[in-house]
Amino acid sequence: MNEVGKEILIAKTDIEKRVRELADTISRDYEGRELILIGILKGAFVFMADLVRQLRIPCQVDFVRLASYGTVTVSTGNIAISKDIETSIEGRDVLVVEDIVDTGLTLSALVERLKKRDPHSLKVCVFLDKKDRRKVPFEAEYVGFNIPDRFVVGYGLDFNEMYRFLPDICVIGEN
Ligand code: PRP
Repeated sequence: MNEVGKEILIAKTDIEKRVRELADTISRDYEGRELILIGILKGAFVFMADLVRQLRIPCQVDFVRLASYGTVTVSTGNIAISKDIETSIEGRDVLVVEDIVDTGLTLSALVERLKKRDPHSLKVCVFLDKKDRRKVPFEAEYVGFNIPDRFVVGYGLDFNEMYRFLPDICVIGEN
């Protein structure tokens, strides 16, 4: 395994620029409306904090935490919510904010669950998209960067709960 932080896939300055672009697009798309941002813990916390400060529309924030069942979750897409949002989303404009979409199982299942609560609209904004890894079809409405199938950490993403604090997206592993 190489040294974490040595290979930067996406540098802090590029991240900042892209987050501003995403926030501009979202602010235009939702002009005159009010958003509820739902961040998926833990990975989304850094991206969500940066994104929300660049938006030019009024918004509320809330968070959901999903229980992890390891390989069971990966193979079936079943999710259990271990910490639910505390806001009613019925009739509201909702934007789910996530750090990465990989197999698509997490987000496709969560979106289905949230849609049952009758939001006025529900879209998804992901910072990273690893399209090569999809097991179920899933397209986010807003994507920061499409990345290859490499193990990345930083900017909220972890390896065994480490490295979430890194300001860049870095590659770890033998690549
Ligand atoms: C990561 C990421 C997504 C999910 C994406 O979460 O934050 O929630 O995996 O994978 P999928 O598209 O294959 O479902 P993780 O379980 O690592 O938890 P964390 O956010 O607490 O790091």
